[in-house]
Amino acid sequence: MALKITVIGTGYLGATHAAAMAELGFEVLGLDVVPEKIEMLSAGRVPMYEPGLEELLRKHVAGIEGSTGRLRFTTSWEEVGEFGDVHFVCVNTPQKHGEYACDMSYVDAAFASLAPRLTRPALVVGKSTVPVGSADRLAALLDERAPGDVELAWNPEFLREGFAVDDTLHPDRIVVGVRSEAAEKLLREVYATPVAEGSPFVVTDFPTAELVKTAANSFLATKISFINAMAEVCEAAGGDVAKLAEAIGHDERIGKKFLRAGVGFGGGCLPKDIRAFMARAGELGADQALTFLREVDSINMRRRGHMVELAREAVGGSSFLGKRVAVLGATFKPDSDDVRDSPALNVAGQIHLQGGQVTVYDPKGMDNARRLFPTLGYADSALEAVRGADVVLHLTEWREFRDLDPAELGEAVTTPIILDGRNALDPDQWREAGWTYRAMGRPRA
Ligand code: UGA
Repeated sequence: MALKITVIGTGYLGATHAAAMAELGFEVLGLDVVPEKIEMLSAGRVPMYEPGLEELLRKHVAGIEGSTGRLRFTTSWEEVGEFGDVHFVCVNTPQKHGEYACDMSYVDAAFASLAPRLTRPALVVGKSTVPVGSADRLAALLDERAPGDVELAWNPEFLREGFAVDDTLHPDRIVVGVRSEAAEKLLREVYATPVAEGSPFVVTDFPTAELVKTAANSFLATKISFINAMAEVCEAAGGDVAKLAEAIGHDERIGKKFLRAGVGFGGGCLPKDIRAFMARAGELGADQALTFLREVDSINMRRRGHMVELAREAVGGSSFLGKRVAVLGATFKPDSDDVRDSPALNVAGQIHLQGGQVTVYDPKGMDNARRLFPTLGYADSALEAVRGADVVLHLTEWREFRDLDPAELGEAVTTPIILDGRNALDPDQWREAGWTYRAMGRPRA
């Protein structure tokens, strides 16, 4: 009989995981504590923007015409406990307010709610990004509080927003931290399809599984800050960081990916994960090992300030008062509506606080941006956003912005200056249309 799977927490990670598990052929029950989310998902609608996810959901959600009916949602912990052979915990672990450490309250609450309802044999699988040592602690909690024969495994997730469906169905590796062969066997059954397609399956212990996730995100953050540090040097020396990245990227040991210089990394993962990692290393007495991450963080944050300074220079060098600044992009990356710790909104907010009249446009992030920064100005299109602008800032590299017609925009602005915070526009195209184009880490031309 096919395994029955539950997914606890239906954010970017959980909603995608639930739909992917149904796609792999399992019976799936998703749980969230927010009833509105469950209502939406049960109607086949996704509460966030993630390409391909709604289609996958509608293919499987019970009650939707033509669906397989393998996927249902609930708010009932009893139902989850009775239903599942395997329970995936996918709740989020944000940064604690005013601290570097990660806030484990959602994970702890999920385990506390789930444990007493586990009346039959089950494998609980942690997917949330947690400080190393959490799995040991949560395994002890299950031993103490779950009435049935219950075991824990840790299985970090590496999906990227914008590619979540593909990354979940075709992961470039599957990492499982287990304490028994039975747990490994069950997880091999869950992931049989991607493993058969060639995804490597790495079996390890709890602490290593937890660390793989934070190590991977720390490496990616370091790579971005490395190239942004090179951008600073290029600017000082008159070099071109885009060419530099292209050239070093040809070395296979370095690789081309994650070498795009610009306003730096944001989002709900990289920034908070490197901070939580530093905090946890401190608790373990290994803080010296990760002091370099402090530098990675400060290089990254410096990018935002630098963009504000470039914008100030563009509008005359002293003050933003009375100046109109158009910001193209609000999300932390394209193909997502996620604005958590978005460099684009951070820059927009700083300029606004310094008296600039900021107008933001983003293809998918407007609702979330408005909620987070209600005092910024917003426009319904890029053309509207740039109307009357003294400077235009390109801060999230949506395809829509690459496809803009610089000549048309040039007629709408007061001064045709564009600052490319993502090194993603074609400088020649903008310059030929009469714009002053400037990018981070590249010569002024
Ligand atoms: C990141 C990791 O890439 C995933 O593997 C991981 O699973 C996920 O965090 C997580 O922990 O859940 P994500 O936050 O979706 O995924 O976004 P990334 O694609 O990693 O981009 C992060 C930020 O770095 C974005 O703001 C992006 O604009 C920026 N970035 C990326 C650069 O500034 N330069 C680059 O070359 C690449």
